[in-house]
Amino acid sequence: MQIKDKVVVVTGAASGIGAALCRRFHREGARAVVVADLNGDGARLVSQEIGGIGIQTDVAVESDLIRLVQETENQCGPIDLFCSNAGVSYRDEPDGTAASCSNENWQKAWDINVMAHVYAARAVLPGMIARKNGYLLNTVSAAGLLNQIGSASYSTTKHAAIGFAESLAITHGDDGIKVSVICPQAVATPMLGNFEDGGPQGVDGIVTPEDVADSVVAGLAAESFLILPHEKVRLYTQRKISDYDRWLNGMRRLRRSFAN
Ligand SMILES: NC(=O)c1ccc[n+]([C@@H]2O[C@H](COP(=O)([O-])OP(=O)(O)OC[C@H]3O[C@@H](n4cnc5c(N)ncnc54)[C@H](O)[C@@H]3O)[C@@H](O)[C@H]2O)c1
Repeated sequence: MQIKDKVVVVTGAASGIGAALCRRFHREGARAVVVADLNGDGARLVSQEIGGIGIQTDVAVESDLIRLVQETENQCGPIDLFCSNAGVSYRDEPDGTAASCSNENWQKAWDINVMAHVYAARAVLPGMIARKNGYLLNTVSAAGLLNQIGSASYSTTKHAAIGFAESLAITHGDDGIKVSVICPQAVATPMLGNFEDGGPQGVDGIVTPEDVADSVVAGLAAESFLILPHEKVRLYTQRKISDYDRWLNGMRRLRRSFAN
């Protein structure tokens, strides 16, 4: 997909990767860019900068996503590209088990990292299928293919997000629907602050949100399912699948090196 003349929605777009995607889509000549975020003031600031539309949206609430899709289609026409980008990360408790994150944060991680993708798809797919045309771009993480040391809730929900995106691609490929997932390692955004200097996910370097936007524009043009701003993630994923036990040993070593 080329972005020129397209109607695009991005969630979690007041900051980080989402804001960079909005700016880049505007530069690529999108007809309309809708900037959606829980932080309504932040969304409006980004939208003013690019002449887009800012809409306060809590992606964990299905009725908010339905309203976002309706308002966009009323103001701009059918949505060509919907980017489910909002995400949250919570660490395991210090010295806690992999199950130690609170139930409240596990639930938020499920709602925002997974269910928001389900709600968005439910809201936009009927129109896209009727038009036999539409693109869903879901921001996941390398943690969805590999793992996030120190955050079981993030790793688990991001794996689930990959599973859902695969189901979308398999079920709706014949309906003319395209699906991609963005799976970066460390990106310099406020979220990374939770993982101190990149932490274990920063071992291959920290890229900028603009670098991610470059990969996304190339990945959308190629209509590739996997968009990997850190290309090494492809090799790591191949190694994981070819020898899971060896991969787990390597991950334990990496965890120990960050514990010291
Ligand atoms: N930063 C990284 O290293 C990194 C790496 C891999 C994947 N990601 C993923 O990239 C995506 C964007 O994260 P980022 O790094 O740009 O972080 P960020 O903190 O800069 O931006 C996240 C945005 O999501 C918004 N948000 C949070 N909860 C929301 C909700 N319920 N409804 C609507 N908006 C909500 C926040 O207000 C914020 O503006 C996330 O899905 C994250 O998991 C980030």
